[in-house]
Amino acid sequence: TRRVRTRDLIAAKERGERWSMLTSYDQYTAGIFDAAGIPVLLVGDSAANNVFGYETTLPVTAEELLPLVRAVVRATRQTLVVGDLPFGSYEEGPTQALRTAVRFMKEGGCHAVKLEGGRRCAAQIAAIVGAGIPVMAHIGFTPQSEHTLGGYRVQGRGDAADEVLADARAVAEAGAFAVVLEMVPGEVAKQVTAELSIPTVGIGAGPDTDAQVLVWQDMAGLRTGKAPRFVKRYADLADALTEATRRFADEVRGGEFPAAEHTF
Ligand code: KIV
Ligand code: NA
Repeated sequence: TRRVRTRDLIAAKERGERWSMLTSYDQYTAGIFDAAGIPVLLVGDSAANNVFGYETTLPVTAEELLPLVRAVVRATRQTLVVGDLPFGSYEEGPTQALRTAVRFMKEGGCHAVKLEGGRRCAAQIAAIVGAGIPVMAHIGFTPQSEHTLGGYRVQGRGDAADEVLADARAVAEAGAFAVVLEMVPGEVAKQVTAELSIPTVGIGAGPDTDAQVLVWQDMAGLRTGKAPRFVKRYADLADALTEATRRFADEVRGGEFPAAEHTF
């Protein structure tokens, strides 16, 4: 088996086949998701929250993300790995964006990059695509602009649907191979998906996008505390890990671990 290519994802859309994407930030999850047949992994800037413990995605840097990108690429054989460009690394314009994207491809070894923004980032997307680097766009709610958007809020309600549509057209026109639609009404996502020939990847965007993405710790229930409404938990890793940790601590305290079979 070979790695998934961006053209495979566009072909899947033409066949009406849906696919899934997860975030990954380390070798074990990357290897498991790859073997389980997830075609696209995103080393998201959500590592800011889910790996580094920052409150928002704003502080995370390329220096912090690149080692995680390398780990995910090394641990996978079939998955297309997308590296997420962090806040501050592409907003200045096409030159800065291309410089950062090249770094992610060379130093991270990923197969595509992602950045946030529709019309306002069309020039950046065109420059990166023009250099031969596939770009996944990200519109709707874009966490790096949460201070402008007024927190985690659905985008594109009512008349604002036109804004989402205009952003979607702009990123497709600029050459993006796919576009993430985050927290937009299901009807808007459906309309964008029908109109674009590139795949849409929904998160909190209803059932009619071509693909779905979740943060893996949300999907697997490792996240503690309240998750957004669009998350479905497919496992309870936080509970499983808490239980395992308590048993380990108890067995050490009680002298049951290590036993003879663990002893040289
Ligand atoms: O960083 C991230 O996890 C993302 C996805 C949720 C799309 O951008
Ligand atoms: Na992100």
